[in-house]
Amino acid sequence: MSENILLEMEHIRKEFPGVQALKDVSLQLRAGEVHALLGENGAGKSTLIKVLGGIYTANGGTIRINGNPVSIESVLDAQKNGISVIHQELVLVPHMTVAENIFLGREPTAANGTVDFKKMNADVKEILDSFELAIIPDEEVSKLTIAQQQMVEIIKALSFNSNILVMDEPTSSLSEKDVGFLFETIRKLKKNNVGIIYISHRMSELKQITDRITVIRDGEYIGTRETATATNDELIAMMVGRQLTNYYTRTFSEPGDAVLEVRNLSDGKLLKDVSFELRRGEILGFAGLVGAGRSEVMKAVFGIDPFTRGDILVAGKPVKISNPEEAMTLGIALVPESRKIEALFPQQSVMYNITIKTIKEFIRGIFVNREKELAITREYVDSMAIKTPTYTQTVGNLSGGNQQKVIIGRWLATKPKILILDEPTKGVDVGAKAEIYAIMNELAKQGVAIIMISSELPEVINMSDRVIVMSGGRITACLPREELSQEQIMKYATQFVA
Ligand SMILES: Nc1ncnc2c1ncn2[C@@H]1O[C@H](COP(=O)(O)OP(=O)(O)OP(=O)(O)O)[C@@H](O)[C@H]1O
Ligand SMILES: [Mg+2]
Repeated sequence: MSENILLEMEHIRKEFPGVQALKDVSLQLRAGEVHALLGENGAGKSTLIKVLGGIYTANGGTIRINGNPVSIESVLDAQKNGISVIHQELVLVPHMTVAENIFLGREPTAANGTVDFKKMNADVKEILDSFELAIIPDEEVSKLTIAQQQMVEIIKALSFNSNILVMDEPTSSLSEKDVGFLFETIRKLKKNNVGIIYISHRMSELKQITDRITVIRDGEYIGTRETATATNDELIAMMVGRQLTNYYTRTFSEPGDAVLEVRNLSDGKLLKDVSFELRRGEILGFAGLVGAGRSEVMKAVFGIDPFTRGDILVAGKPVKISNPEEAMTLGIALVPESRKIEALFPQQSVMYNITIKTIKEFIRGIFVNREKELAITREYVDSMAIKTPTYTQTVGNLSGGNQQKVIIGRWLATKPKILILDEPTKGVDVGAKAEIYAIMNELAKQGVAIIMISSELPEVINMSDRVIVMSGGRITACLPREELSQEQIMKYATQFVA
């Protein structure tokens, strides 16, 4: 890393109606440096990089590139200044192909002036191959998995050959293998003197890949530390403004009777003979690599996806669940992994999004019981510490992590007996994680049976009564609490991996 300063953002301010998202934030990026931007959900990280990327115009402050003040008023301005951004929410055009997305607005033209699809697809194939990605250039983006879309997003950003690259939570839906590729790429880019701003809530990643860490809190600059010498406790204290004790809250007790039994579930595709039982008051962890089939099991149980064989019993009785409504009637709730796509109504209010599943309780004919609607909203905004200026705020305007908390709150409001959480803390800051753990513990104490799919092993190990490990669509182990360790889980998680 050189002392050569590529980018300086100084005293940046950005206001939205009712929200001062950035009050005074500064950030400096050197050539060949990976610089982390760390802060709680809603601290202003994405806003800062949207200012840099030309999506928002700041209300004040200076941006200097190579020492010269620049004005960035559009995405094109940003590109001209050598800035590429991988945004937190995917911005690919779903009905276009992979290659079209990557070359959008700068398609190569053939001699007759039309788009040279052949060249475009060939160029993209070359990049995809160099990443060993099994993605076809002329495949429609909507047909790809979320992880694949994320990789396309990354490749698109790389294809501009920018010298300033920003990654806003690039790994949140990547498999371990893809994260490996990404980190290799980052190391290569560093050698080429590219400066990278890296946003992630995963401390272990920051330790692994970044050189310096800048912390912001409530739109204000708190400080910058060398990654090598900063401790987690110090960074967390900077982030949340206090020491965080009791990270994992869990009081274990003897679980009750089986409330959910799944027997020999197969879907004719990935899932093979999946059998397990879930007991009252327990937290059952589901570990495995991305693609192991964990989400698929839960979608089958919840009536989203059909299955070809197998039985489901709720409270000892065989049931037939053909859609989510039937599952809900049986007291089951599922908080899906890709909340953005499967769950959020981005144009609607926080209140609408929280109460959408419970609305029946306070509608009588054409009358809505506003007080009840408000009470439910207040309960979950408070208990989940959702950061929003008002209950009527458009949910799409909340920060990524706060949107996730809204969806979790929505399902908690249904007061389920069986709660299935798919990666509940993905993209959620450390303070909010601790809050979610405390809520899970409280629900378990009250007798709710909880399934938690998670790729964060420390969380699975510390929160679960038992952990089921899946690999290649099969259950490879069911480990009691006493036998839980990262090594044990990884051993079974990779059992059917080529
Ligand atoms: N378009 C918008 N309109 C109104 N408010 C917004 C808008 N975009 C962001 N905000 C608000 O600005 C604040 C900062 O949000 P931002 O998305 O930058 O947070 P973040 O640090 O990226 O959080 P996360 O870790 O959850 O992604 C939040 O209070 C958010 O609700
Ligand atoms: Mg963000």
